[in-house]
Order: sequence, then structure tokens, then C-alpha cells
Amino acid sequence: MGNIKVGLLGFGTVGSGVYEIIENYQERLESLLGKKVDLAGILVNDITKERGIAPEILVTTDFDEILAIPDLDVVIEAIVGIEPGYTYLSKAIDKGCHIITANKELFAHKGRELKQQAQAKNVEISYEASVAGGVPVIGTLHQLLQVNSVVKIEAILNGTSNYILSEIRNERTAFLDALQSAQTKGYAEADPSNDVDGYDAFYKIVILTELLFGQRPEWKWIERKGIRDISLNHIQLAESFGFRLKHVASLVYKDGALKIDVEPKVVSEDHPLYSVEGVDNAVVITGDLVGQLKLQGPGAGKLPTASAIIEDLVNVFNSVHHSPVVKEVKLLHDVDEQEQTWFVIGNSTDQFEGITLFEESIMDHHDRVTGRLIQATGREIKKLKAKDNDLTVYPFSGTPAQPVKKAFATA
Ligand code: NAP
Ligand code: HSE
Repeated sequence: MGNIKVGLLGFGTVGSGVYEIIENYQERLESLLGKKVDLAGILVNDITKERGIAPEILVTTDFDEILAIPDLDVVIEAIVGIEPGYTYLSKAIDKGCHIITANKELFAHKGRELKQQAQAKNVEISYEASVAGGVPVIGTLHQLLQVNSVVKIEAILNGTSNYILSEIRNERTAFLDALQSAQTKGYAEADPSNDVDGYDAFYKIVILTELLFGQRPEWKWIERKGIRDISLNHIQLAESFGFRLKHVASLVYKDGALKIDVEPKVVSEDHPLYSVEGVDNAVVITGDLVGQLKLQGPGAGKLPTASAIIEDLVNVFNSVHHSPVVKEVKLLHDVDEQEQTWFVIGNSTDQFEGITLFEESIMDHHDRVTGRLIQATGREIKKLKAKDNDLTVYPFSGTPAQPVKKAFATA
């Protein structure tokens, strides 16, 4: 009985974590898998870096040398960007290897193609680490989907953004200092604009949507905003209501229609995402039978992410197989007509003439920066913004202190 032979692509934060677990937990892995795990080759970009890798392991910049490893069973991918990862994984599948990836940008763009190719070649493809780091959201959704329809997800999917927002609020840290700290801790992407401009959470909600509905959503359906424009003033205004600003990816599925957003939201204290702090991610899932459940844990970082990859490795070889789900999905065309609650920040009251305000808090009496909680449709919010370019509007999720009144007397 041979060993399980692994090729590892990338030796950064995630790849080095995978190496450490395989090196340090060999006994545990052998007891789970009935075989030793043999990390046979590692692909890197810069061969000159000192990495402390055991001398018997092949370290190369040439992917063909990894593929040429005799009896290679599985390729674990933890590099960045769509290419060259897609080409490498595609070649690995062709050779009959199982594949595991942490790369959400690659998987959001090319997951469907890789899944089809893997199915045709009868190999496994696993991607738990690509969404929410160490939080087992992919496995949980596969499990739930056996009997539930998932009708709603509200999630914090970017550890870097959540870490930055927590640092600014708790420590009054400047945005760039908080970002630098997230980079030092290994949370941020190689290009951190992926994190702070919402692309990373966007890729992750695309992956979840494709898992839930068996098809990739039209990307133009998804509103994407990051955290770059959130100021300390906004955070403090939200706080004065007892609320917090969070970067939230949400998906609502109703009557065959889908609405997906990735944006900063104001949440109240009783909302399940309110208490999710630092690098933690959380995924609040509503299933039609199970009701609401919440998964929470470290969404980025070396060992949590590597742990998710090793779980995939164990599942692949213990034949935990997930069947694809296929559903009909249509775009929800009337999103702008749906009434909801908004947290509105502005420095004048003119544009609210004739509007019944629900609750307001004035931050600075000289500048009259005011936060207001109102209820309106998306279309009405657009009208408000057209009157005042400086108005900032965040969707609100949770329970307001008092019942919310309608923002417009009549449209
Ligand atoms: P990282 O620290 O920047 O490491 C990237 C690694 O990939 C480096 O070892 C680099 O080689 C190697 N690499 C880059 N381009 C390459 C190429 N063209 N050919 C060969 N090797 C190449 O990144 P990371 O944080 O580990 O993230 C890796 C992947 O996991 C990304 O897709 C990321 O989105 C995802 N992920 C990250 C986290 C996290 O917490 N960091 C969590 C979940 C998922 P050199 O070392 O030679 O430069
Ligand atoms: N940069 C990502 C984050 C890593 O901060 O969430 C985990 O996917």
C-alpha cells in the first residue's frame, strides 16, 4: 500500500501552513487515511528564497516537474490569480490527479469548467478553503442541500475588511495602519484592493451561489462595494444608535429569483453578524426546513486556511463525495421596488423635506453630520441621492429600536 503523494503549488501564507500540518501531524493523518501523506513536490515563483523545506522534497519553478512526479495523487493549489493556476489544475486533472484549491479568484472564474473536467475524468475537486478560510461553509452547505433549499445567506466573507473595521472602531486606528497590520498577519491578498474593494467577498459569494444553484450567477447582477469610503465618522454615527458597520455579502432567493449584494451594511446589536469581530468570518444560512444557523470562525490566516485544505484532503481520500445541485434561477427584476430599512448619513436636512424621519443622531453640531434610519424603496433612495451627492446610504439589517416609519410621505 503506497503513500498519498501530494504536489503543492505555492509556499506563501497558505502553502507553508499546509506544509507545516503535513510535517507535524503525520501520525494523525495516517490514522485518518490509513496511509502516509508524502509531500513530494512544491512549486514556487522564486527559487532563491530561503524556506526551510526538508531537503528530500522537490522544490521547483517548473510545473511540469511537479506533474512528472511518479504516482502523483493530488495537487493542492495555493497561488494567486486565475493564471497560471487554471492551466496547472486543468493539466493535473487530465493526468488523473484530484485537486484542492484555496484560490477563490480562480475558482469563481473557472470553477464550473474545472468541476466539469473533474467529473469527466472521475477525480475529486475540493475548495473548502476558498470561502471563509477555516469556517466549514462548503461542507455544511453540501450537507444542508441534501434536504433543504437555502433561501438566504448573510455573511462576512472577507477577514481583512472585518479586521480593518474592527481595528478602526475599537482602537481608532487609521485605515492604512489597520490594512498594514492585516498584511503582516497574512490575512490580506497579494493585491489588497481585492479585499478592501470587495472583490474577494464577491468571488466568494459567486462560489457559494454556484454551489447552491448549480450555475454561475450573472456577475452584473451583483452590487459590489468595498470598505474604502467608510470613515470613522460613519462608524461613530452608527455606534451612537447602538449599531455597527460590517462588510456583508448577502444572497436572497425567492420565487425562483435571486438578489446578491456585497457591500457595507449597518447592523443592529441583535443581528448575528454584529458580534463578529477581527479576522473572523461568519455565514448566517437560512434553510427552508432548518431555519437560521450561523457558522463563525477565522476567515483567513495560515493554519485556519491550511486546516480547511487538509480537511479536503482527508475527505477526498475517504470518498466523501458531493453531488452537484441544479436549480432554475432568475434575476429579481423589482429590487428597487422592495421596501427596506436604510441608514442614511448627510449634513443637511433639506432633501428630507416632507419625509417622516424615524430616528436621528447628530454627530457634529457645527457640520450637522446626521445619521438617520429610514424606510424606503431602492428607487426612493436613488431619488434622495440624486438631490444630494454627498449623502451616504448603507442598507440596514436587524431590528431598529423603534418601528421604522416610511421615509417618503408619497413617492
Ligand atoms: P502568498 O502568501 O502571496 O503566497 C503565494 C505563493 O504562490 C508564493 O509562495 C508564491 O511564490 C507562489 N506563486 C505566486 N505566483 C506563482 C506562479 N506564477 N508560479 C508559482 N508559484 C507562484 O498568498 P497566500 O496568502 O498564501 O494565498 C494563496 C492563495 O490562497 C490565494 O489564492 C489566496 O486568495 C488564497 N487564500 C488565502 C488565504 C489567507 O489567509 N492568506 C485564505 C484563504 C485563501 P514565492 O513564494 O516564490 O513568491
Ligand atoms: N484575503 C482574504 C481575507 C483571505 O482577508 O478574507 C481569505 O480568503
